[in-house]
Amino acid sequence: MKMDRLIAAHESLGRQAAHRAIAAGRVRVNDQIVTDGHHPLDRFTRVELDGAVIQRPERAVYLMMHKPVGVLSATKDAVHPTVIDLIDDPDRHTLHIAGRLDRGTSGLLLLTNDGRWSKRLMAADQKVPKVYLVETSEPIAADAAAAFAHGFYFHTEDITTLPADLVVLEPQRARLTLHEGRYHQVKRMFHRIGNRVVSLHRESIGGLHLPVDLPAGGWRMLEPAAAWAAVASGDSPIFRNSGFRG
Ligand code: URA
Repeated sequence: MKMDRLIAAHESLGRQAAHRAIAAGRVRVNDQIVTDGHHPLDRFTRVELDGAVIQRPERAVYLMMHKPVGVLSATKDAVHPTVIDLIDDPDRHTLHIAGRLDRGTSGLLLLTNDGRWSKRLMAADQKVPKVYLVETSEPIAADAAAAFAHGFYFHTEDITTLPADLVVLEPQRARLTLHEGRYHQVKRMFHRIGNRVVSLHRESIGGLHLPVDLPAGGWRMLEPAAAWAAVASGDSPIFRNSGFRG
């Protein structure tokens, strides 16, 4: 919503009075005077008119988790434990997942109640890098890196995967960087070179790295500014709160 609409609707002030109030510097947005009526607002923005709060901000939550193997990347499930069950925060049921992991995959999982942030993380044109450690059932072929860089055609979606960076660390261990996130993508790519993923772990998404001291099942809140900066620039986040377990 634009700011002038919110002010105009407040106590039926009307558009003209709203514009006068805005131009006169009587409106504060997140503690800053804003004189542009088109200033965008969302539900996380605090707005005051003459010092009285007319929109109370909701709490924006950005959270990183070390997802353990065996827990579902879902917000609800009748049978299996979900990642939400691991979070003891009063707002946990408002969260959604920005980039799921398979039940058998571990590593960095991001959750939020801010759709703009998750959208940015997932947007195809943003090409946010996601880094995985992969263990395979067979030695990784010498020409695998070239095949991953070239891309694979996925018939079901009618797409060719974006160039991916495969670095072989050991005969059956590699680090893979993807710039997209398709269903079972890593497993399907290895399947295409006649190999099988036996263990998969996500190390990072954009500038957000799974901290070495965050145990499986643990989670940490991210500062909003750090969460956004990490998506935009790859900077390391600053932590606000923690929920260590184990
Ligand atoms: N690719 C997969 O195959 N599984 C995941 O969990 C993530 C990426």
